[in-house]
Amino acid sequence: MEKIIDGEKLNIPEHVAIIMDGNGRWAKKRLMPRNFGHKAGAKVVEQICEDAHSLGIKYLTVYAFSTENWKRSVEEVSGIMNLLRNYLVDSIERASKNNMRVRVIGDRTALDKDIVEKIEELEDKTAQYDGLTFTIALNYGGRDELRRGIKAITADVKAGKISEDAIDEKLISSYLDTSDLPDPDLMIRTSGEVRLSNYLIWQLAYAEFCFMDVLWPDFTIEDLKEAIRYYNGKERRFGGVK
Ligand code: IPE
Ligand code: IPE
Ligand code: MG
Repeated sequence: MEKIIDGEKLNIPEHVAIIMDGNGRWAKKRLMPRNFGHKAGAKVVEQICEDAHSLGIKYLTVYAFSTENWKRSVEEVSGIMNLLRNYLVDSIERASKNNMRVRVIGDRTALDKDIVEKIEELEDKTAQYDGLTFTIALNYGGRDELRRGIKAITADVKAGKISEDAIDEKLISSYLDTSDLPDPDLMIRTSGEVRLSNYLIWQLAYAEFCFMDVLWPDFTIEDLKEAIRYYNGKERRFGGVK
């Protein structure tokens, strides 16, 4: 989709995936505990959903907690989980105002039961909205997602539901958590780190990557526009010649 933004005609990526990084450093700079940064970061998520929608983005997927983030202190992990609890409850009303469908990807089996129930309620109550599809990656790891997908494919082959010959790229995609999402066009990582940290490793095969120096709690619509302008400067060849 094309849109005029600040007087410039820009091609808007359909699906933007974000690694929201830098909350801890943002807090440290302020001599505050890491969870202070997570709290500020959670506020920014709310704003960015609205901004993404206003810019015409159809799908926004954010990395909230990785399968590796359990390595952090109990205090930090429980702080993040409590923020999430509040977020999931508040989102029901916000999503209805913003016509936003919210879904969660990742392995739910390790999450507390009340969190899983809140996720199910939020997904259920927002399923009808068709403005922005907002996906939260929670206890998500790209390798773990592939592991779970491969297990499910193997089980279906064994049960005779699919034949081994039917396993093509499309089928593999359909067994991943993101089965109902198009692949991301643009991946943004904040905080200056230039790595994927196990995020959407299958789905990002042909995305454009924009690494930004801003820390996540400082991220604004202006940074999002900058990333979209960066995306517009790229020629997407998908292996062909233009
Ligand atoms: C990202 O910020 C949020 C999560 C991983 C939950 P960090 O907490 O990784 O912040 P830094 O990288 O330590 O600054
Ligand atoms: C990636 O950030 C995970 C999330 C943003 C949720 P990390 O801060 O965990 O990644 P590393 O450890 O720097 O690679
Ligand atoms: Mg980090």
